[in-house]
Amino acid sequence: MITNICCIGAGYVGGPTMAIIAQKCPHIKVTVVDLNEKRIAAWNDADVNNIPIYEPGLSDVVAEARGRNLFFSTEVDKAIDEAQMIFISVNTPTKTYGVGKGMAADLKYIELCARQIARVAKNDKIVVEKSTLPVRTASAIKDILDNTGNGVQFQILSNPEFLAEGTAVEDLFAPDRVLIGGDTTSEGQNAIQKLVDVYANWVPKGKILTTNVWSSELSKLTANAFLAQRVSSINALSELCEKTGADVNEVAKAIGLDSRIGPKFLKASVGFGGSCFQKDILNLVYIAKSYGLNEVADYWEQVIIMNDHQKRRFANNIIKTLYNTVSGKKIAFLGWAFKKDTNDTRESAAIYVADDLLSEQATVVVYDPKVGEEQIQFDLNYLESRSEIENAKGVQVAINAYDACNNAHAIAVLTEWDEFKTYDWQKIYDNMLKPAFVFDGRNILNKEELEKIGFIYQGIGSR
Ligand code: NAD
Ligand code: UDX
Repeated sequence: MITNICCIGAGYVGGPTMAIIAQKCPHIKVTVVDLNEKRIAAWNDADVNNIPIYEPGLSDVVAEARGRNLFFSTEVDKAIDEAQMIFISVNTPTKTYGVGKGMAADLKYIELCARQIARVAKNDKIVVEKSTLPVRTASAIKDILDNTGNGVQFQILSNPEFLAEGTAVEDLFAPDRVLIGGDTTSEGQNAIQKLVDVYANWVPKGKILTTNVWSSELSKLTANAFLAQRVSSINALSELCEKTGADVNEVAKAIGLDSRIGPKFLKASVGFGGSCFQKDILNLVYIAKSYGLNEVADYWEQVIIMNDHQKRRFANNIIKTLYNTVSGKKIAFLGWAFKKDTNDTRESAAIYVADDLLSEQATVVVYDPKVGEEQIQFDLNYLESRSEIENAKGVQVAINAYDACNNAHAIAVLTEWDEFKTYDWQKIYDNMLKPAFVFDGRNILNKEELEKIGFIYQGIGSR
């Protein structure tokens, strides 16, 4: 039976996942390790509200388990040495250099983990791929472990994570399924069973699916590709709705009632963001190309092309509607995170829309309930479209939405935070320049109510 788990990587996946394992399995000591000292210090902050990741319900889980059987540490070697099972939950970003630049997953952090585990391990270990990895990565990890290790036995499992940010805790409490891939040998099956037993502490057995390693690795990329494809599909139709007078919300409802299609993940938007969809589809495209499957690659690449178009189209529409110039105009952004209920901004559509508007010399004033100035400037600077000084001049950050909208020519809703719906929109209107425009990139505001106040309102996918 597993009684000691280590997780390398205390990020958006490692942190919440291990917190829930620790809470649900008080008999297992769970140590989450990371090289990032600041991040670990934040996980250990005496005030549990200061943990580095905002997820509804997460601080309660951490408060219950931390110090009991959940530990956060920078002592990676020690945690590896003591654990029977080691989860690798480090980042696997898109490569920014060399072969596969801009497409392939950068596996350098994964390889470093494998080499470290091999160096440190003095007894048999089960190594679990929690990070999202290209299909067949397990064989590379196994190669490194077997060739650089101390003669101990390693079993590699694939256990991709399907949680969505903003709902991580509820997704982890009640997952649609847990997927575990392993070797077909008896040692492999034995390792799978040990991980099944961990999850069986709270997940019904029928929801724990076991497969071979390659199916498990590929299922994760496939799931994200299908989900992103749904968003790009409805977004593609949103543009056609705007031309024809159809309403994308009505179309989504009508098709979603078909049980073969289903109602979820059909919200037209300014474009999907987040650290996963784009990265994982690019990775899938790269893998398909590397096998010479060009039609397969082109098919999935179109999901990204459509998403880039949707973000750009949103910015262009603002410029066109504001009489073809936003130079010197103030545009208020409501939201910067890539979706509500998270402080994560990776690949957020807001970044790209802001970048386009800055290139047209607009001033952007941002308010997001969970994202601060430092992160916003970091996100823009990362694009390297202009100097840091120019970004700092072009983008300001407000402490509340009313300040952000004061004297603005237009408001753009970039994230679907619930609080935006509850504002005093009359007050916001009164303090704006006229005509006062609202570009609702999430279709969350009440069009009739806003038009009655006097706003010129434009949502996504309707006239
Ligand atoms: P993250 O960047 O938030 O966290 C990764 C952490 O790993 C960082 O804190 C980093 O310092 C640490 N790290 C990197 N190399 C290390 C090393 N050698 N030793 C110790 N620590 C190291 O990333 P994330 O969002 O948690 O994603 C992790 C993986 O999970 C990725 O493969 C991602 O694709 C996948 N995933 C993410 C999500 C999500 O919603 N974010 C969902 C499912 C799967
Ligand atoms: C995604 C997958 O859902 C999750 O299973 C996987 O583990 C990680 O990647 P995440 O990126 O955290 O999760 O959030 P998700 O809810 O999938 O949203 C991704 C993006 O798509 C967001 O920008 C969201 O606003 C957008 N989206 C989602 C839409 O625009 N419309 C929709 O109908 C759904």
